[in-house]
Amino acid sequence: MRIWVTGGTGFVGQQVMRAAGRLFPGDEVVATVRQLGSWPGWPGVEPLPLDLTDAVGLEREFAARPPAGLIHLAAAADPNWCEEHPVEARALNVELPRRLAMLCQRFGARLVFASTDLVFDGRHPPYAEAAEPRPVSRYAALKHEAERLVHEVLGDAATVCRLPLMYGDPSPAGRHTLAAVLAALAGGPPARLFIDEFRTPISTMAAAEGLALALHLALGRPWSPPWPPGERPAPPAGGCRPDRGEGPTAAPGPAPQRSAPALLHLGGPERVSRFDLGRRLAAWLGVPATGLVPVRQADLPMAAPRPPDVSLDSRLAFALGFRPGRLEEEWDRLPSFQRVRADVKKAGTAPG
Ligand SMILES: NC(=O)c1ccc[n+]([C@@H]2O[C@H](COP(=O)([O-])OP(=O)(O)OC[C@H]3O[C@@H](n4cnc5c(N)ncnc54)[C@H](OP(=O)(O)O)[C@@H]3O)[C@@H](O)[C@H]2O)c1
Repeated sequence: MRIWVTGGTGFVGQQVMRAAGRLFPGDEVVATVRQLGSWPGWPGVEPLPLDLTDAVGLEREFAARPPAGLIHLAAAADPNWCEEHPVEARALNVELPRRLAMLCQRFGARLVFASTDLVFDGRHPPYAEAAEPRPVSRYAALKHEAERLVHEVLGDAATVCRLPLMYGDPSPAGRHTLAAVLAALAGGPPARLFIDEFRTPISTMAAAEGLALALHLALGRPWSPPWPPGERPAPPAGGCRPDRGEGPTAAPGPAPQRSAPALLHLGGPERVSRFDLGRRLAAWLGVPATGLVPVRQADLPMAAPRPPDVSLDSRLAFALGFRPGRLEEEWDRLPSFQRVRADVKKAGTAPG
């Protein structure tokens, strides 16, 4: 089958590209790229140079090579940028997914659309798929509007995957959510990290696996986990585990279902504050956590309002075979994190 991935050079997309052979064995994988120059040349993936805001070009390419399934990742993914660029943000985060949904409908393709935990207001966590979204920022409101539009156009041919805060190997453009923390641990400028903002983070590697799982279900194909038996952790009992050993947060989850859900939460097994995430990274690297400064959300106003706790209850995804590990387990399998730790060990100093 032919699979399209948009945003293949992004922070999440590059991880889908790296793992494409494992995630979609035997499929033809096509990745849209805005500029061919930023394409690192992942084996087994065909780059398709395309500015996705070019509606005519998009339709032409879609008709020439219609996919059976599409993972839509390209977006304006920075909430602060979206707050300050309303027109461009709407074009990328609402008009583009709507146009893609209409093309999918016309050509009979299944759509997996990447949305965000930020569609919730953060006041009643953890959030399962049935929870009512109440976006507090422009980015989140646009993503929620797009969620509704793709479902309106495609019905059950669309799966919306809500992704949480992610960490992972840097994108070709150098995007890396923990870069400031690593720099602070290396003696650079201090990193101010919230003690009152909680998330259920996952690695981009786990995100790639979760998105692939959703697409396989949407295509009506069995999901064969791309890891050897026993390699990935057992599913957690609750939606997420609080970071202070307080046990599962909720009663046993939903019964496994094998068809494609309309909504799928791809959160991690642990609820952590940004500050605790930094402290655990320091411990994993074996360096002191000096340089990490605990702050409150109110201390650091940003363009986009920030919900306090958008922890996801991801028991439906766990029941379907999604297996994100704890932070340390995921860092253990990310090449760039392994390299930083090896450098620290070799030098006997903080990461450089
Ligand atoms: N990162 C997170 O923590 C997070 C959390 C929750 C949800 N999400 C969602 O996950 C998805 C992926 O996020 P990400 O962090 O990977 O974003 P990203 O790193 O900013 O990547 C965005 C991608 O979209 C592409 N793109 C943007 N405008 C384009 C255009 N006009 N034509 C073609 N391509 C275009 C970019 O191409 P270039 O490389 O050419 O710029 C890039 O490949 C998004 O839908 C985001 O909303 C992300």
